[in-house]
Amino acid sequence: MQAFQLEVHETQSALVTRGIQLWQQAAAVAIAERGSFTVALAGGSTPKQLYSALATTAGLEWSRTMVFWGDERYVPHDHPDSNYLMARQTLLDHVPIPPENVYPWPTDAGDPATDSQRYRVSMSRIFPGEWPIFDLILLGIGGDGHTASLFPGSAALAVTDQWTAVGEKSGEPRLTLTFPVLNQGRQVIFFVAGEGKAAIMQEVLTTDPQYPSQQVHPQGSLLWLLDAPAAAQLPLKVGL
Ligand code: 6PG
Repeated sequence: MQAFQLEVHETQSALVTRGIQLWQQAAAVAIAERGSFTVALAGGSTPKQLYSALATTAGLEWSRTMVFWGDERYVPHDHPDSNYLMARQTLLDHVPIPPENVYPWPTDAGDPATDSQRYRVSMSRIFPGEWPIFDLILLGIGGDGHTASLFPGSAALAVTDQWTAVGEKSGEPRLTLTFPVLNQGRQVIFFVAGEGKAAIMQEVLTTDPQYPSQQVHPQGSLLWLLDAPAAAQLPLKVGL
């Protein structure tokens, strides 16, 4: 298993504070070194507090920040399940980010594969190379060990020659970045909170690879950022 960093913070509030600090650091380095900061956001509910706190964090250079998503549900952008809508409501509608810096997955072609390819084309405007290299990729983890929309048993797990793929959850299509793209990341952070994730965290960090999230081995750094409830079943002696 690739080396990884693990941080456990006593509360979700402390976790959010640390998440902001890591975002600030990643953005500052990227902008200093390359003139812009490319980030792929996680969906779901866990990141909401982080995004809301980022919205009131001073000093972030939103004009140089390029926002993408690691995955998206195949729903309209105004649908309550939309990861894009969630990020807009918690963060993007509250910061001075130029609209052209925000790259939502298209979900209006009526065909997930078409929209998956369209996203790859839009990404290539920012990432001209063979593979996109994100400065920061935020990920969550599901109770089944999925991450982004790379779910156990789905064909998307085996896609190694594309930037994007069509995943599926319980028969519903999902759009997702592929493992090669996640693994090109300069910094990948799994942002995990709540006792509901304690069991899967114990499995993922202490057993042989069997879950999609265990296939994330970025060329850059890998950090598991947990609150104490999510870390409760880890065999750690933590001086919390
Ligand atoms: C999504 C996410 C997904 C999420 C996990 C955890 O579209 O739902 O990208 O990978 O991160 O399912 O979701 P919660 O944060 O809601 O537990």
